Amino acid sequence: MRVLGIESSCDETGVALYDTESGLLADALFSQIDMHAAYGGVVPELASRDHVRRLLPLIQQVLDDAGMHRTDLDAIAYTAGPGLVGALMVGASTAHGMARALNIPVLGVHHMEGHLLAPMLEDNPPAFPFVALLVSGGHTQLVQVEGIGQYTLMGESVDDAAGEAFDKVAKMLDLPYPGGPSVSALAASGAPGRFRFPRPMTDRPGLDFSFSGLKTHTMTTLKALVRDNALDEQARADVARAFEEAVVDTLAIKCRRALKATGYRRLVVAGGVSANKRLRDSLGNALHALSAEVFYPHPRFCTDNGAMIALAGALRLSQGEHDTGTMHTTPRWPL
Ligand code: KG4
Ligand code: ZN
Repeated sequence: MRVLGIESSCDETGVALYDTESGLLADALFSQIDMHAAYGGVVPELASRDHVRRLLPLIQQVLDDAGMHRTDLDAIAYTAGPGLVGALMVGASTAHGMARALNIPVLGVHHMEGHLLAPMLEDNPPAFPFVALLVSGGHTQLVQVEGIGQYTLMGESVDDAAGEAFDKVAKMLDLPYPGGPSVSALAASGAPGRFRFPRPMTDRPGLDFSFSGLKTHTMTTLKALVRDNALDEQARADVARAFEEAVVDTLAIKCRRALKATGYRRLVVAGGVSANKRLRDSLGNALHALSAEVFYPHPRFCTDNGAMIALAGALRLSQGEHDTGTMHTTPRWPL
């Protein structure tokens, strides 16, 4: 079955063609990051309009790259939520329009299910069951995964998502959006141990997260440095490092707990923050001690992309699922 996947939930227009027998045939992505950077974050209306501009040419590009025609498609999958409603509608209406014209099934998939299954695009995919840490700009969740559609939420952030905290701290440090990569780059020249930030909610049992206090702690530290006339380039890097270490440590502690609680030996880490180098190093060490294995998507499939949606859609469509009736978008949608 050849499935076209469409992702348009936020600021990336992603399209891919996935074949259930031969795997990923082609994928293309247009990132709107440069357009939103001037505003310090995603502007929803600009995002929707740009998806309209990019989507059809990207679909054509993917078909051309795979040497196929749209009549070769067997089904279409699109991100139905969660995300920005206008942006979601662009993907949903395009998918439904094409599917109706081609008389093929169409399915709206959950964006986070796409992230969660993205490591299955790799040559060494994780077997079920596993624990998934989903860390993006909108979510920080630990999920017990027993199979396709068999997801149990074990814990999540009670306030900001980890990626959101990176983005907000980047703003405090006058760094460009998106904040994850820029905070991380600055942190690389930070001195270890000059500041030690709290590891929120690790001093009590449970698998929930909280990153809002860490953001406030960062702000307070920066203000104190300004007051003491000590906020030079090295101090900014030292703060970035303390913040990144606190987020990474907190995530690693909770992943260890989730693996112990389930008895599983496999951890999948996905979503934009899974690209973070310090997180990968830290999880590598933590999981080695538990004789557990960690799986990541390919770096280009860590952030939003069409391939993960094509894959998640293909797996569900293969089970006979598809949209009945009209298109749906679900801006707020629990996994
Ligand atoms: O999954 P994603 O592309 O979009 C959402 O669904 O949110 O994740 C984007 C988030 C942003 O908050 C960005 O700052 C963060 O992922 N991010 C990172 C890194 N690369 C992207 N955070 C930390 N370190 C990184 N290297
Ligand atoms: Zn995402």
